[in-house]
Amino acid sequence: MTDQAQSDQERLWRGDFGTEYIDRNAVSDEKLAALTSHWARVLRSTVGDPPKSLLEVGANIGLNLRALRRLTGAELHALEPNAKARSILERDGVLPAANIHDAIASAIPLADGAVDLAFTSGVLIHIHPDNLLASCREIHRVARRYVVCVEYFSGREEEIHYRGHDSALFKRDFGGFYLDNFPDLKLLDYGFAWKRVTGLDNLTWQVFRKG
Ligand SMILES: C[S@@+](CC[C@H](N)C(=O)[O-])C[C@H]1O[C@@H](n2cnc3c(N)ncnc32)[C@H](O)[C@@H]1O
Repeated sequence: MTDQAQSDQERLWRGDFGTEYIDRNAVSDEKLAALTSHWARVLRSTVGDPPKSLLEVGANIGLNLRALRRLTGAELHALEPNAKARSILERDGVLPAANIHDAIASAIPLADGAVDLAFTSGVLIHIHPDNLLASCREIHRVARRYVVCVEYFSGREEEIHYRGHDSALFKRDFGGFYLDNFPDLKLLDYGFAWKRVTGLDNLTWQVFRKG
C-alpha cells in the first residue's frame, strides 16, 4: 500500500472536494425511490437469511442507508471520512451517532465479523489501485456473511480524469477483484442498474456470501 496515494485520496474527500460532492448530491424523493427499488433488487438473494446489521463504507449523507431503512429493520452502520457528510447523517437521524464512524476503508474500526453485510457503492472506484486490496480486506474482515459491491465497471483497469483531478477515479471489474482475492466468497447474484430505466448511474453490482 502506498501511504502517499492513500493520504492524498483521504485528504481530497475530507476537504472541499468531498463537500462539493455533498452539495451536488442532495437527498430527493426521486433518488430515494430509485435507490429503494435498487436495494430491494440487490438484496433479493438474501431474503431467506436477511442481514440483521449493515455497514456502508463511504456512506456520504446516507442516500443508500435511507433507502435501506425503508426495506429493513437491520442495525445500520456508516463509515465516512468527510465531516460534513457525517454531521448530516447525524442531524437527519439516519442512524445513531454511535454507529457513524470517522474512518477510511483500509482501517475500519470494527471487529472481525461485526456486521452481517458490508458494502460500498461508488467508493472502490475512488481508491487508488495500490490501496484497493487493503480496503477490500477490511470490508471482507468486518462482514460476517455478505459483501456487496456496487461500482462502475470496466473490463480493463483504467484511470479516468475526474473533476480536474488525477488519481481520483479508477474503473475495473471490482466483482472479479473480490472473487480473485477472496476464495471464500461465493457469488449469489449480480446485475446492472441501467441509467435509462433506473435513474442510477449505470452501476454494476454483485452480492457475495462469505464461507
Ligand atoms: C462517490 S461518493 C458515494 C457515496 C455513497 N456511497 C453513495 O452511493 O451515495 C464516495 C464516498 O466515499 C467516501 N470515501 C472516499 N474515500 C474513501 C475511503 N478511502 N474509504 C471510505 N470512504 C471513502 C467519500 O467521502 C464519499 O462520501
